[in-house]
Amino acid sequence: MIRQAIIPLAGLGTRLLPLTSIIPKELLPINGKPGLEYILDECIEAGIKEIILIVSPKKKIIKKYFFNDSFYKKILKKKKDKRIENEYKKILKYKKMIKFVYQNNPIGTGDAVLQAKKLIKDKFFLMVLADDLIINKNCSKSMITVHKKYKCSVMASMTVKRKTVSRWGIYKINRKLYSSNFLISDVVEKPSIKNSPSNKAVIGRYILPKSIFKKLEIQKKGPGGEFHITDAIRALISDDHKFVGHTFSGKYLDCGTMNGYINSSVEISKLFD
Ligand code: G1P
Repeated sequence: MIRQAIIPLAGLGTRLLPLTSIIPKELLPINGKPGLEYILDECIEAGIKEIILIVSPKKKIIKKYFFNDSFYKKILKKKKDKRIENEYKKILKYKKMIKFVYQNNPIGTGDAVLQAKKLIKDKFFLMVLADDLIINKNCSKSMITVHKKYKCSVMASMTVKRKTVSRWGIYKINRKLYSSNFLISDVVEKPSIKNSPSNKAVIGRYILPKSIFKKLEIQKKGPGGEFHITDAIRALISDDHKFVGHTFSGKYLDCGTMNGYINSSVEISKLFD
């Protein structure tokens, strides 16, 4: 059973400056609600019971967002407003499920995940990158179904244009499995077009084994001086740990870039037309 999710949130969000000079990118509104709430809702709907948010000391305001009780209580005392009441109830629901862990320096997803080591209870957990919104179909839920079927690690996959491979983690495919799933034989972080093993990209949903912590503990820094989760996954694959790629059917919205972020509100507003 997958009961816990890790969401790394310590990144600087430089691709979204100037918006992120004060506000963490995960709290920026997307069609009227912070991007992070879409991710939390996806996890909850997928059956996740505990969500570990990895924040940096500079992004403490994310914690404040969930622990702003006196503010809500004061307002609700002054006026009975059903909408605000419901918003507060929603925050309280999230609050019950989330735990905070600090990553002091934003030195990569691998290092972020390692900070949650002590809190992970089961053999497998979910990791979600908050920049990657997937709408129309709950990707985490589908991946948990795939995990139950193959009893192994699972990563989300999307076919990308070959000229963009250096933006993503890229899979090397061993063979096709049933339906939209395939067996992964390697994964390379941001390869050049020439060296790219395919045009199937990693999108930010991972079901990872607890044994990844052992790899992360001994991992060396990768390109850009960061500890990439992709490198720890590679190490597991070369130890014969099974990883399945799942080509999800929802629509991907890249909220980590300015154009993608702007477009995400447009796309999500269409859902309510
Ligand atoms: C991260 C991962 C990369 C993945 C991408 C998906 O990269 O390292 O493997 O393809 O997310 O959004 P980043 O967006 O942090 O550069």
